Amino acid sequence: MQLFDVYPLYDIAPVRGEGCYVFEENGQKYLDLYGGHAVISIGHSHPEYVRAITNQVQKLGFYSNSIKNPLQVELAEKLEQVSGVKDYSLFLCNSGAEANENALKVASFKTGRSKIIYFENAFHGRTSGVVAVTDNESIKAAFNKDHQVVKLPFGDIEALEAELSKNDAAAVIYEVIQGVGGLDEASAEFYQKSATLCKRAGTLLIADEVQSGYGRTGDFFAFQKYGIRPDIISMAKGMGNGFPIGGILIDHKIEAKFGMLGTTFGGNHLACAAGIAVLNTIEKENLAENARELFEYVKQKAGDIPLIKKIKGRGLMIGLEFDFEITPLRKELLFEHKVFTGASSNKQLLRILPPLNIKKEHFDMFFGALKIALDNSK
Ligand SMILES: Cc1ncc(COP(=O)(O)O)c(C=O)c1O
Repeated sequence: MQLFDVYPLYDIAPVRGEGCYVFEENGQKYLDLYGGHAVISIGHSHPEYVRAITNQVQKLGFYSNSIKNPLQVELAEKLEQVSGVKDYSLFLCNSGAEANENALKVASFKTGRSKIIYFENAFHGRTSGVVAVTDNESIKAAFNKDHQVVKLPFGDIEALEAELSKNDAAAVIYEVIQGVGGLDEASAEFYQKSATLCKRAGTLLIADEVQSGYGRTGDFFAFQKYGIRPDIISMAKGMGNGFPIGGILIDHKIEAKFGMLGTTFGGNHLACAAGIAVLNTIEKENLAENARELFEYVKQKAGDIPLIKKIKGRGLMIGLEFDFEITPLRKELLFEHKVFTGASSNKQLLRILPPLNIKKEHFDMFFGALKIALDNSK
């Protein structure tokens, strides 16, 4: 049987990972500055993570959500403590799209409305509702186009105010720093005013922290920089360091009802063991602080390279913008210098999303390779 051919593949097959590196079968080593799309938070094969998953699978890998699972409670308590966000409840699922899909559903249940407001360049996932609020027509099937959605320019507070004044939207959904869209971030005023306007309109504010959450930006959640309180926060990528787990945090004012949400696999024992190990490690190793500090280092190093026109993002969610398309540069970094980097819908932006325990020496290696690759491309 063949695989359904939806991914353009690089001819590389890592079989092992350690910290900021992955290795092929023949021992070839790659510096991972992409973390498998921002997924690797605490580093590949972190010993505490391996131990937690191994111990758990030896005891109980899975049982359904119809029994008590104390690991879910432990994960929720740890998440509240490490993230610093209070008075939310946790619903667990398996991916970023599923987290956002549930967030939209909760907003619709709570408000009785169906219209969702989203923004240009947004990416919220590929399932039915969330692909409808993703700014990429090429990944929407006819089936996805029947949702009631409105797209606005990102950061345009007047446009948002005008739309919200109709008092008919269930939710506004945004990524505080856009990932796939190319690392754009709106003004503090936009985030703060959007929260106030949503409240006034009876509309719920959903912060999609699937990519920016879990310490990646130097704050546990990217919205925390602006002192706002979203009604729902969605999470996934960094949450399990590669183990499939996602979730939403739902403000206490939104009441749960039996059957309102549900999942077979979400919050299973193994996923929770992985999630707890990730939070313990983020806390013990001060990984959000590391992200903050290393961003300063990256800015300094990038400042020495005149071909880098702009540094976007924060923490270890970084975009280096050039005035030319970066596809050949990425290929040279990968095949000649053995460094994984990422791309975005902005074709001139190199995306850097490394494990959060990366060190200065790794960036020294990267910038050394980048300088050579840029010289070769002249
Ligand atoms: C901000 C954001 N939201 C949602 C998703 C969808 O997550 P998943 O691929 O786990 O469904 C992504 C994935 O890239 C993302 O970057």
